[in-house]
Amino acid sequence: MGHRLKTLGEFIIEHQSQFKYSEGELSRLLNSIKLAAKLVNHEVNKAGLVDILGASGDINIQGETQQKLDLYANNVFMHILKKRDIVCGVASEEEDDFVVISDKDGGHDNKYVVLTDPLDGSSNIDVNVSVGTIFSIYHRVSGIGSPVTKEDFLQKGREQVAAGYVIYGTSTMLVYTTGHGVNGFTLNPALGTWYLSHPKMKFPTGGKIYSINEGNYIHFPQGVKDYLKYCQEEEGNRPYTSRYIGSLVSDFHRNMIKGGIYIYPTSTKAPKGKLRLLYECNPIAYIAEQAGGKAIDGFQCIMDIEPTELHQRVPFFVGSKEMVEKAEEYMNDYPDDANY
Ligand code: AHG
Ligand code: MN
Ligand code: MN
Repeated sequence: MGHRLKTLGEFIIEHQSQFKYSEGELSRLLNSIKLAAKLVNHEVNKAGLVDILGASGDINIQGETQQKLDLYANNVFMHILKKRDIVCGVASEEEDDFVVISDKDGGHDNKYVVLTDPLDGSSNIDVNVSVGTIFSIYHRVSGIGSPVTKEDFLQKGREQVAAGYVIYGTSTMLVYTTGHGVNGFTLNPALGTWYLSHPKMKFPTGGKIYSINEGNYIHFPQGVKDYLKYCQEEEGNRPYTSRYIGSLVSDFHRNMIKGGIYIYPTSTKAPKGKLRLLYECNPIAYIAEQAGGKAIDGFQCIMDIEPTELHQRVPFFVGSKEMVEKAEEYMNDYPDDANY
């Protein structure tokens, strides 16, 4: 047998000391996320099957399996995070407001908050295309002992202690950072074990993929239109290649491995963009920076934005550093567009 890959469990134990503030809680928190991810993976993988069984009418499907998968994923993550006595609150794209979690004795001594997009790219499920889960972890800022507050969730991305995503793709991967680089683990579904398959992930230089919903071109700000023109020009390693799945996690994951930029700009239809600062942009920005990339709203770093509301949207430019910086140059030709 060849070299044995390290498991996620082994990796977490070895790197325990790198976690800020933590005395083992963050390791346990990551352990609960990896369990939730396995459950969602199992459900996502039988999505087509459940539809078939449901349509036949003669198999009595539990209410749970009939739920839309994004609600199912939300419930799984909520349930598992509530159980472990580590998290004092969760905010999710699928919940109107943040959820307060009390500890075993009914107190409020837990230290961490989690923000999540439980199922990203959910419109792709019906057509068997990859979807993901995104999560972001902060240390609470309110005092231990009292219920979690909105301020615990409205922290700048820079304050994240960990962030990651799961991609339910041709294989299922968990990719995360605690501020010491980015590592990717692939699930062996037969064993239910995650293996360190992608250590120390970095954007390669010379990226040439651009990912944007170009159907909205007419509604884009002029800086984006100009940058797209640049991507398509014949010069040096251009024209670039266009790739757009419509699942942020999948588009980002591919671009991090191959080199590329993902853009969801403002448009006349979505004046603040579409993606959510807290559930999607901040965690992906953290991973991008840790992999040597960059993430901006067109003008400033995503993780420096002071959040004002839970479901806040922002325009998002993320990927290979030199590509994001080139897009930023074009955006800066129209400084008024910074006031979206
Ligand atoms: P979600 O499924 O969590 O609502 O997110 C979908 C997001 C993102 O994943 C994707 O990149 C983007 O929406 C696609 O939007 P368009 O269909 O407007 O291109
Ligand atoms: Mn999403
Ligand atoms: Mn979602």
